[in-house]
Parts: sequence; C-alpha cells; structure tokens
Amino acid sequence: MSNNRASEIAQKLKQQAAVMRVGAKFPSARELSKSHSASAATISAAIASLTALGVLRPEPGRGTFVAGRDEPDGPSGMPEPDYAWQSSALGRSRVDPGKAGRLGAAGTAGHVQLSWGYLAPELQPFDELRTIGSRCAKSHRAWTMAPPMGLPDLRAAFAAELGAEADEVLIMPGGQQSLAFAMRTLADPGSTLITESPSYPGAAIAAQAAGLNLAAVQADADGIIPEQLADALERTRAKLIYLQPGCANPTGAVLSPERRVAVLALAKRYGAFIIEDDWARNLTLEGSAPPQLFMQDPDGHVVTIATLSKPAAPGLRVGALAARGPAGERLRTARSADDMCVPPLTQEIALALLSSAAWPRHLKRLRTGLLERREAMVAEVNVALYGSRVATIPTAGIHLWVKLPEGTDSTALTAAANSAGVMIGDGKHYYVDEPPAPFIRLSYSAASIPQIQAGVQRLAGLM
Ligand SMILES: Cc1ncc(COP(=O)(O)O)c(C=O)c1O
Repeated sequence: MSNNRASEIAQKLKQQAAVMRVGAKFPSARELSKSHSASAATISAAIASLTALGVLRPEPGRGTFVAGRDEPDGPSGMPEPDYAWQSSALGRSRVDPGKAGRLGAAGTAGHVQLSWGYLAPELQPFDELRTIGSRCAKSHRAWTMAPPMGLPDLRAAFAAELGAEADEVLIMPGGQQSLAFAMRTLADPGSTLITESPSYPGAAIAAQAAGLNLAAVQADADGIIPEQLADALERTRAKLIYLQPGCANPTGAVLSPERRVAVLALAKRYGAFIIEDDWARNLTLEGSAPPQLFMQDPDGHVVTIATLSKPAAPGLRVGALAARGPAGERLRTARSADDMCVPPLTQEIALALLSSAAWPRHLKRLRTGLLERREAMVAEVNVALYGSRVATIPTAGIHLWVKLPEGTDSTALTAAANSAGVMIGDGKHYYVDEPPAPFIRLSYSAASIPQIQAGVQRLAGLM
C-alpha cells in the first residue's frame, strides 16, 4: 500500500463525508474498496486518518459514521467537543480507576481523615523543613541540574542505611514512582507479578500500568505464606514478587525471621526478583525495625525502595531505590529515559534534613505521637465498633486493618462514612481478587486523637 494512495483516497472520502449528514452511516470498507478500486489496507489507512481528524467515527460492530464537530451545540453555543475517536485510538485501559481514584484521596478539610496514609501536619517536621527549605532555596545548587542518579551525598546517606554502596542507590521522587519504575523496568509486559494479599493498591496499579498480570498470594500476621508463594511461582513462572516485609499496608504484618529466609530461598530457586517496599522504616512503634531484606541478600534478588513521604512529609517527594548487579545497572540506565533528575531543591532539603540533629529528635517524637494515636484508635474501635475486630495490633506503620461483622457491605459503609464526613479505606481495594471477608482500613496518622475518637464513633453510628 502506498501512503500517497491512502491520502489521495482520504481526500476523496473527506469530500464525500462533507456532503453527508452528521451521524449518517458511511459506506462500508468493502464498498469503498470496490468503488475506489483500492485494497482493504489502503481503505483502512484512509479511514484511520479521517478518524484521527474527527471526520469519521468507527463504532465497532456497527460500522463507520460521519462525525461532526459542529453537530449539537454545547451550553456556550460552541460546538461540543467530539472525543469519540479517542475510544478506538486508546485501546484497552490498563489501570483500575477504582483503585487509582482512592489513592491519596484526602477528602475535604471538613472530613475526619481516617484513610490518608501520611502524617498529620503536626506530626511532620514542619519547622525543620521550613528552616532548611528556605536555606537550601538560597543556594545556587538548588537551581542547577543534579546528576540523573541523584546527589552523591544523598545517595550515600540512603546507602549507609542499607550497608550498600552509594552507586547502587538511585534517588527517586518517592515510593510510588519507584514501584512503577521498577516494575516496568524489571519485567516484560504480559508477565506476572506476584503480590502478597491483601496489599497496597498503589502497587497493583503500578503493575497494571506496566502491563503485568497480578497473581495474589495469601499473607497472614507473619507476612506472605511461603508454601503458597512456592505454588504461585511454580504455576505462574513469575520473575517479580512485590512485598512489604518491614510492615505491610494494610495489615501491619511484619515478615517473620523464618519466612524471610524461606522467601529469599524461593527467590533464589525460581530466579525471581523481590521488590521490597520499605515504606514503614522509621515508623516502628514497638521494638526495632527488622533490617531490610536487601541486606540479607548478596545475590541481587532484592530491589529495595525507601521513601521520605511517610516519616517526613508527603510533598517532599524524595525516596530511593537500591539494586545490585545487572538489574541495578539497567534501572540506573533506564532512569534517564524518564527524567533528568529529581528536583535538586528537594534533594538538598532531604539531605540536610537526614543529616541534621533534628532528624533523630523528630523520629523519636513521631514514634510517641503515632503510638498514642494507635492506642486511642484501637481502644475506640474495640469499644465502639461492635462486632468488628482489629486483625493484628500493628507494631509499626499507621494503619489498622479491621474485620467487620460478617455480611457488612464495606463499600456501602465507606460511602456512607464519606457522606457523614469520615474518610475510611474500603477493604476491597486492597485485594486483587474478591476479599474473603468484609474489612476496612483505618489510618491513625493523619487525624488528631479527638478526631480519631469522633470519627470512629460516627462510623459506629452508621453500622
Ligand atoms: C505501601 C506503600 N508504598 C508506597 C507508597 C507510596 O508513597 P510515596 O509515593 O508517597 O513515597 C505508599 C503510599 O501510600 C504506601 O502505602
């Protein structure tokens, strides 16, 4: 087929459409092929170009119609835009809008926020950020380009936490971007990502955006169940596993020492990568945090992701990804295709914050503040939410995973709570498949203690 021939026919078809009524059925490709003595491929190229121009509108299974920008007028008297062509141009949607829409949803200022997975303003190191921020903004360094992999000193700061080399670390704009980037770079579209279940919906949509199929493996209070992980690896031949070993969102589960060994052995046996989402580091409420799985793995199976959004401030948008071996090389190379660098200003602020004496002080204060909020929420749920049960009292993180009485519709409850001014997380969104029981996720980090108590009581009134 010649391009010239297709555009010649497109011109003729355009003239033909111009004298037809908008919405009228256009001759079929077969008829056009005959009347213009052209191949089916040439006709289809001509129709595609007129579709892109908004002249024609194919409707799968029905035929092709004359489209018209000037058909019905909108309220302003201007022609209504016609986006119908986009439906055929876009193809299949990948990212689940239900999961995506709820991610980071903060509600209105009037809502009691028991769903947002970040710190309330009074728990953030706001004074330090303000002082450090204005100091950093005065430096020229903040306004010139940083190296694509990140500021060397900031890479070294994250590396020190991991016992890694600075050049194994990549500075990233937060955890979500790191997940999407790692999934897209480490696996081919169409392959499978295994995730513990229930799990963070942001990881599920990152996998969907990367064109990966999701396989869910059950987790309990000790994290993912190794026997079931082995079955899933055998069945799917997946090369990518998403885990939150330090503390799982939403359940608060911490991967037990025995299971850490078992999971690493499975990654080795099946030649798979583990994406370790270490979001809750620095949010430990009892005891001390287990080391990153990355530190237990000499062979480059684990790619670990850190973020400052959770222990510092979500608007900072600074995190890090560390990986070893050719995968690390590949990730560092691919990063430049996405972005020139994370804004140097925020990197400078993150570096100054992490190296200041204020940082350990902030973390200590944060632990106390979160612990008080957790206690208040657990007490209120136990008293007010009759028939519900906190699945595990979390020793880290910011969420309570609450099992509702059998038969409760968690989606209806979430909608009713939202209308009543309380934001909660519908448990359904944390599953890839159907949930085994009704759950909600209640977060204690974004609200004050009186708000937590009032919010849970309001919820009780709806149940
Ligand atoms: C488990 C988990 N991972 C990653 C993220 C992404 O965090 P951010 O992109 O703000 O660093 C979140 C945020 O809610 C999360 O809960």
